[in-house]
Order: sequence, then C-alpha cells, then structure tokens
Amino acid sequence: MKIAIVTGASSGLGREFVKELAAEKKYEEIWVIARRKEELLSLAQSGVRLHVLPLDLTLEESFKDISGLLEKEKPEVGLLINNAGFGHVISFEEEKSEEILSMIRLNNEAPLRLIKLCLPYMKRESAIINVCSAAAFVPLPKLAVYSASKSFLLHFSRALAGELKSKNITVTALCPYWIRDTEFISRAGGPKSPFGALTAKDVTEAALSASRKGESLCIPGIMGKLTYLGGRFLPLSILLSFQKMFRA
Ligand SMILES: NC(=O)c1ccc[n+]([C@@H]2O[C@H](COP(=O)([O-])OP(=O)(O)OC[C@H]3O[C@@H](n4cnc5c(N)ncnc54)[C@H](OP(=O)(O)O)[C@@H]3O)[C@@H](O)[C@H]2O)c1
Repeated sequence: MKIAIVTGASSGLGREFVKELAAEKKYEEIWVIARRKEELLSLAQSGVRLHVLPLDLTLEESFKDISGLLEKEKPEVGLLINNAGFGHVISFEEEKSEEILSMIRLNNEAPLRLIKLCLPYMKRESAIINVCSAAAFVPLPKLAVYSASKSFLLHFSRALAGELKSKNITVTALCPYWIRDTEFISRAGGPKSPFGALTAKDVTEAALSASRKGESLCIPGIMGKLTYLGGRFLPLSILLSFQKMFRA
C-alpha cells in the first residue's frame, strides 16, 4: 500500500496538502496527523482513504504509536510532509520555557524522528517535504526561537537532500513568507495583513511541483525570494528595517 503522511493536517497548509494529494490520486491512503480529531475526520470529504492519527507530536508516546503502525501495516511511504509547526511573536525573555521546548520539539525533533521512522519504508522516488519558513533566512528578534528552529530545519533538510540523492529520495525544504489564510498568524500573534502574504494554495502547489522536480529548496512568492536574497547579501540591520516596513 502506497501512502502519504501529512502532519499538521487539521488546518492551514496541511489541510490544503491533503486536498491536493487527494485530487492527485497517487496514494492509496493518506495518514493525517494533528491533535484535533474532528478537523482531521472532516478531511474525508476530499474523497481519499484516510488514516486519522490524532496525536500530539511533542509527546513521546505519539512516536511509539506511529512506529507501531508502520511496523504493522508495512506501507510504502511515497511522501512525508513534515508540516506541523508553530511560532509566537514574543521576546525570548517573556517566552515561557515550556513553550520554547515545545516549539523545538514540534518544529525540529518531530520532523527528524518521523524521517527516521519513515526512511526504511521509502523507496526510490519517495519524497520528503519539510515545511520551514522564510524566517529561516533571517535571525528575527521577537521570533528568535521560531526563526532559529526553521533555520535548523532548513540546513538539516538541504544536507539530508544531499545524503539521500543516491537513493533517489528527494528532500524539499519549503520556505514560505507569511500565509494569510491559515491559523498560524492569529496563533502566533503576527501582523494582521502582512504585505505580499501568500495563500495556502499558492504555497502547497509550489511545494508539490518543486518536490516532483526534485528541487531541494522551494521559496514561493516574491517576498520570500527577496528575504532569501536579503539574508545572503544585506547587513542584518538594513534587512530588519525593511522587514518592519512590510509587517503592517
Ligand atoms: N502561516 C504562515 O505565515 C507561515 C509562514 C511560513 C511557514 N509556516 C509554517 O507552515 C506550517 C503550517 O502552518 P500553517 O500556516 O498551516 O498554520 P496552522 O493553520 O496553525 O497549522 C499548524 C498545524 O500544526 C498542528 N500542530 C500544532 N501543534 C501540534 C502538535 N503539538 N502536535 C501535532 N500537530 C500540531 C496544528 O493542528 P492541531 O492544533 O490540531 O494539533 C495545525 O494542523 C508550520 O510549520 C509553520 O511554521 C507558516
């Protein structure tokens, strides 16, 4: 049985990924992971066979459940999308230690553990998409832990892409700028209407297309690309003053 696994499928990008994969009809089953069961169950409307896994990816037992299920079903994992993640616009001093650890667990530890669990079930032409962020390109004050966590995931993804090339397994690091129609901005306390914000559909279409082409980096939209270039060529102080102008 060929499956896709999507984390953070209960809202936003994850939900959109599932809808697009359902329309592609390439996978016999999609394993959907997030904490909110009802939202995951409602994805059945997209017309694909689902395996609903209402799990918290910051908890040890969730990985035991996933590992047990993989051993029992022995599927071919055609695609793993590590999408679950969160951030919070807040100073490091104010941010609670539990939240910091939880963010690192979800944004970093969970994708690495899931990749470890899934790799033995992947074949040539299997693919991994790790949802990073344009925040990975710039060390962002008030998003310090988040931008560092996404930078970690970006570097790891690109290195892993090199390692898995000989096995013909592609790894794509997806680095979107702000997305306006997911729950992320309101949960994070981010800017209400950031200039140049993308839609979830723009982002998932670009990511799936980049993954099919075997690209290791996908930066949808002009603002993400400018942030990437700015991160490489501009002094941080100038880059951050541009960022402020566009935060609105
Ligand atoms: N929106 C943006 O502006 C933006 C920009 C760049 C990158 N990103 C990245 O895009 C990814 C998807 O975010 P989104 O924009 O679609 O936001 P979203 O709508 O808030 O989706 C986040 C998903 O992660 C799941 N999740 C959160 N905590 C979890 C946990 N402990 N265990 C399992 N699942 C958990 C949530 O489901 P439950 O609450 O049901 O668990 C939800 O399905 C994230 O990695 C984010 O960092 C977002």
